[in-house]
Amino acid sequence: MTILGIESSCDECAAAVVMDGRRVVSSIVATQIARHAEFDGVVPEIASRLHTEWIHDVVARSLDEAGISVSDLDGIAVTSKPGLAGSLLVGVSFAKALAWAAGKPFVGVNHVLAHLYAPLLAEDIEYPFIGLMVSGGHTMICKTNGFDDIEVLGTTIDDAIGEAFDKVAKHYGLGYPGGSAIDRLARKGNAAACKFPATNLYKGEHRYDVSYSGIKTAAIRQLDQFWNPAFERTDENLAAAFEKAAVDMLVSRLLRAVDDTGITTVVAGGGVAANTYLRARLAKRSDLTLYFPPLSLCGDNAAMVAGLGYRMLARGDRDSLSLNASPRVTAFKRSVRS
Ligand code: KG4
Ligand code: ZN
Repeated sequence: MTILGIESSCDECAAAVVMDGRRVVSSIVATQIARHAEFDGVVPEIASRLHTEWIHDVVARSLDEAGISVSDLDGIAVTSKPGLAGSLLVGVSFAKALAWAAGKPFVGVNHVLAHLYAPLLAEDIEYPFIGLMVSGGHTMICKTNGFDDIEVLGTTIDDAIGEAFDKVAKHYGLGYPGGSAIDRLARKGNAAACKFPATNLYKGEHRYDVSYSGIKTAAIRQLDQFWNPAFERTDENLAAAFEKAAVDMLVSRLLRAVDDTGITTVVAGGGVAANTYLRARLAKRSDLTLYFPPLSLCGDNAAMVAGLGYRMLARGDRDSLSLNASPRVTAFKRSVRS
């Protein structure tokens, strides 16, 4: 089956053609980063307007590069939740119009599940596995039983990990987007320069949860208190220390989940899965079978949407033209299934 995927939940306008949920024939990602950089963050109104301007060309390019036309498609998949309402609506409306005009089946997919599907585009991975979904909007450790069947074990109780990277980078003017800027700087810094306070939430119920508001506030407001005066106060040292504190917390909860469930296959997804230190830290654990998406498929893209959409369409899932965009997915707080 040849599926067109469309992704517009945040600031990337993307379309991709994927065959049988595995072979990425084309993947176009038109990033709006330059247009949001002057505000140091995504401006929802600008994002949805740009999606409206760009989406037609992005979809046309994805079909062109794949060497096919709409009539060759077996179905259309679009991110319908969660994300920025105005941005999601552009992709959903476009997908519905295309599906209606071409008489093709279409299905709305969950962006979070799509991120966890990204590594499966490249490799056969057996369920169950422990999913690690880390992005600007989500931080989740879950037992993944199937492509749309997850049991959320841990989440963040406040900021998402990527959001914490972005806020610290914004405060210190380290670059935009903050996560990749901190990653770059950290490679030249010394993480021992600052020892952020350990955040321990474990009181039984938060066994796999993380919290980023503490280290974010410490990094922004209380740096003097935690800085080791033996080290120079450089952006590189700050980036390395913050990155280590943020990632170590995540890894400790992930390893708890691995130990408790006995599931040693770990599949990562989301923008923060591109982080160099996170990848290196987990690669040291020879007891884990690790899958990270290629860097091009860590951040938002439409190949993961087409891949997951294929699984859903092949099972017979169809959405009607009344499908709406859902900015939030409350089920991901802590429960089973999407
Ligand atoms: O998955 P994504 O593109 O969008 C969301 O669904 O949120 O993730 C974007 C997030 C941003 O917070 C960005 O700063 C972070 O991923 N990010 C990184 C890196 N590359 C992107 N964080 C840490 N290290 C990176 N190399
Ligand atoms: Zn995303």
